[in-house]
Amino acid sequence: MSKDTVNVAIVGLGFGAEFIPIYQKHPHANMYAISRRNEAELAKVGDHFGIDQRYTKYEDVLADPDVDFVHINSPIPDHAWMSLEALKAGKHVMCTVPMATTIEDCEKICQTVEETGLKYMMAETVVYSREFLFIKDLYEKGELGKIQYMQASHPQDMDGWPEYWERMIPMHYATHVVSPVLGLMDSRAEYVSCLGSGAVRDDIRQKSGNPFAVESCHIKIADSDVGAHIWRFLYDTARQYRESFDVYGTKKTFEWSLVEGEPHVLHTAKKPENEIAERIEVPDFAHLLPEEIREFTQTIQDAEHLSFIQGAGHGGSHPHLVNEFVSSIVEDRDPWPNAVQSANWTCVGICAHESAEKGGEIVRLPEFTLK
Ligand SMILES: NC(=O)c1ccc[n+]([C@@H]2O[C@H](COP(=O)([O-])OP(=O)(O)OC[C@H]3O[C@@H](n4cnc5c(N)ncnc54)[C@H](O)[C@@H]3O)[C@@H](O)[C@H]2O)c1
Repeated sequence: MSKDTVNVAIVGLGFGAEFIPIYQKHPHANMYAISRRNEAELAKVGDHFGIDQRYTKYEDVLADPDVDFVHINSPIPDHAWMSLEALKAGKHVMCTVPMATTIEDCEKICQTVEETGLKYMMAETVVYSREFLFIKDLYEKGELGKIQYMQASHPQDMDGWPEYWERMIPMHYATHVVSPVLGLMDSRAEYVSCLGSGAVRDDIRQKSGNPFAVESCHIKIADSDVGAHIWRFLYDTARQYRESFDVYGTKKTFEWSLVEGEPHVLHTAKKPENEIAERIEVPDFAHLLPEEIREFTQTIQDAEHLSFIQGAGHGGSHPHLVNEFVSSIVEDRDPWPNAVQSANWTCVGICAHESAEKGGEIVRLPEFTLK
């Protein structure tokens, strides 16, 4: 039987700490436990937010019978094994992006979710950002018309970020661009073709095994005539951070601003040429949330954290993520995205890099992600 209030343990307290005050105010969540390896830093966060249940060891989080779900915000190489261990220990899992960095790990997580009946959600910020919610609203109301094409970009210079990023491959962290182009029409990717372009400096190439500066990928969307283009870089290319999403419809088109903080543009077909493009203010979607957590679409706890200096508050998505996962447990339904959708979104990037290594050859998404 599902409970009315669920106990969360947050694991990883860099970006993860952002979610603490949201859980504390959510009407169906109890901000029960926190975990990170560094005891002094753990105590600092626990004292600041008044949380008594603290763990430096992940196995102790999982051994605690009062933990209903873990919200994982550890470094990327830890996402897959931590998710699997949690599911095996009977805990629901919300995990920050990406789900994993191998197809095998994505499949194991999907299998374990199916076997246990537990819930898994990849906490993809982009599909709960106010821009995405605005575009989705326009789409569902028919205002965009038929979708003809989508594109998304995520250039980000990772010099100065934790060292594990130097070992990352651009397309292995692609969910911020894959998720909007697949999420808008709730579709799956069928196959991809990706070109690697340019070159990263030697030390980055050696650490990551990836020679390319930019990876640029076309996605064939399953059961649809729509194609999408996404691109990514992590190092050695000059550009301000941007997580953009453009949607081209028969009636209206949304284009992301070129410079962070400037207005986005809505184009309307068949108007006089100088009236087609209109700079717009994207509305907030806090009204979709329980009243207690609506304020969090506009707030950031740790404005100094690099992911907010480059990240701009992730479009007010954090309370929506919390609400979606908590509601899915309380209402005993699948979260969005569920495990298989999360796997399809994550595997696009993994398949894209494989394609880039083969000079742009078509790589098909694994069957288990198309279910
Ligand atoms: N927009 C987004 O979706 C978004 C934005 C920022 C970060 N993230 C993701 O969040 C994750 C964390 O990012 P960050 O910038 O906070 O990284 P970080 O390296 O600053 O912090 C990682 C945290 O995890 C903790 N940790 C590591 N191993 C642990 C273990 N075994 N048990 C418990 N805690 C452990 C560390 O102590 C630290 O608190 C990354 O995977 C990143 O991709 C996503």
